[in-house]
Amino acid sequence: MPQAFPPADRPERLTADAHGIAAAAALLRAGALVAFPTETVYGLGADARDDLACAKVFEAKGRPTFNPLIVHLSDVETAQSLAEFSPMARDLAAAFWPGPLTLVLPLRPVHGLSSLVSAGLPTVALRVPQNPLARALLDEFGGPIAAPSANRSGHLSPTQADHVMQSLGAGVAAVLDGGDCPVGLESSIVDVSGPSAKLLREGGIAREDLEKITGPLIADLTPGRIAAPGQMTSHYAPQAALRINSNLDDPARYRIAFGPQNDADVTLSESADLREAASRLFKVLHLADASVAEGNFTGIDVAPIPPMGLGLAINDRLNRAAAPRA
Ligand code: TXA
Ligand code: MG
Repeated sequence: MPQAFPPADRPERLTADAHGIAAAAALLRAGALVAFPTETVYGLGADARDDLACAKVFEAKGRPTFNPLIVHLSDVETAQSLAEFSPMARDLAAAFWPGPLTLVLPLRPVHGLSSLVSAGLPTVALRVPQNPLARALLDEFGGPIAAPSANRSGHLSPTQADHVMQSLGAGVAAVLDGGDCPVGLESSIVDVSGPSAKLLREGGIAREDLEKITGPLIADLTPGRIAAPGQMTSHYAPQAALRINSNLDDPARYRIAFGPQNDADVTLSESADLREAASRLFKVLHLADASVAEGNFTGIDVAPIPPMGLGLAINDRLNRAAAPRA
């Protein structure tokens, strides 16, 4: 019987066995994207330490903004090596991990995650999933996996491998097929990075159950806020005044090129590659900001970025950074 090969524009389907798990982990190690089941919905996984792999996530989803991504880990100890846990955060993790709870926590100074994962924020969203296949993949891969829901931006979250195959194209190398996701609803997100816990998204764990540990939760479910967290006031923006679409002719300003660097201070991508530019964006903005803060420059100028593909998300971020502050 001839085997039906997947069409070239679709992800490969991997089976839920040792062979499929090994293949999925190898693809992640090679910087490719692999969708995998969690107990909530399918996630679009990338090595959370790999800038280019994380940039591919935004490209594959067609996301016009850099929403921060949830990092999936195999255990609490690994989570504690990446972020700081308050006593309440520790209690929440002890009660609900592994499971459909995501905690937003302050990043440790040294964490090794791509800055795209937290979209330049000083916090990170972490989750230890329960689904056995997700856990097997995390163990086999041996590192943190960044994964938003594996749907195109604005589409429904996928609860079956077929949903992923229908929604995402060749930008995704493979889908690990683990059947239906039992919860079928995304994880609850609780922000425990500040003095009081905030519910950022209702999800797989009932609010009353969370509140047994947190006490009455402040809900921060402003419509559009989670759908477009780029609008969050806390979202990373440089302190320095930033100008976009600059011709980079003022050496008093920190100049960020796109394409050959020439006499600019840095380039987002020497070869004008949008994926590379996206993967370096937050790093470069932090660098520029620090340089202005040291008094070396009067502000930041950024060259025009083509408004296509990942250029849309880059421009969204730059437009926000350039907008007058309240
Ligand atoms: O159930 C789930 O959580 C699924 C599975 C795959 O784990 N993942 C998921 O990811 O729903 P995503 O990217 O569709 O939603 C993640 C949400 C985003 O709305 C984002 O704004 C929020 O988490 N988030 C991530 N990091 C954050 C941070 N540092 N601060 C505030 N919100 C954050
Ligand atoms: Mg989603």
